[in-house]
Amino acid sequence: IDKQPDTGKLAGKRVVITAGPTREPIDPVRYISNHSSGKMGYALAVAARDAGASVVLVSGPVNLPAPAGVEVRDVVTAEDMLKATCRAVDEGCDLFIATAAVADYRPENLASDKIKKSSEAMALSLVRNPDTLATIAARPDAPFTVGFAAETSDVARYARDKMQRKNLRMIVANDVSVPGMGFNSDQNTVTVFWPGGQESIGPASKTAIAVRLVTLIGNHLEQE
Ligand code: CTP
Ligand code: CA
Repeated sequence: IDKQPDTGKLAGKRVVITAGPTREPIDPVRYISNHSSGKMGYALAVAARDAGASVVLVSGPVNLPAPAGVEVRDVVTAEDMLKATCRAVDEGCDLFIATAAVADYRPENLASDKIKKSSEAMALSLVRNPDTLATIAARPDAPFTVGFAAETSDVARYARDKMQRKNLRMIVANDVSVPGMGFNSDQNTVTVFWPGGQESIGPASKTAIAVRLVTLIGNHLEQE
């Protein structure tokens, strides 16, 4: 297929995308993380690139190659992700899409030596991580901001609630309780919500879902 970067839906737009999990170290050999292959975020980066955008992909640790023509900035922790994303948005950003599965909490203290096992039970003290998506959406110069929501129940209610709370233009909800969908799968089913409507996409490949999402986002951007 011929790419037409000058005439695509996102021609000339600057897009920042977060993808993958974050990793929060406990000690030199252990961490807390989330299930996330990064596939949805990488597919969106490719679809946005093909729609004519210049794309910065802020990526947690994943096993995916950097897509050609996309600038990948690797991060590990949620705090790293916030910093790298703020920097990328500062450089200029029309559209921000948060697909990352960010660890909501990190260990309060990072042990400098490996923790040895002793008693039968142990407790780990955790503190809240910063929210990259909410932080970017709250900026006075916020780009058009799209979030994802991974839910296991009451998908529409939780997703719309997140969209409102985080001040998003759109949210892509993912029912991660459906077997074979989301997480490590190549297939997904999502429902996109915006203040005045919604659209379900799939079941389809993450590549196909990304292309439809970029078209949908592009249509909303055009109406700005
Ligand atoms: N997100 C983020 N930074 C965080 C937590 C979440 O940028 N520290 C983003 C995710 O990338 C996603 C959206 O916020 O786009 C929603 O993430 P989700 O985990 O579903 O929502 P939370 O607000 O963390 O709420 P909860 O986990 O309690 O459902
Ligand atoms: Ca969360």
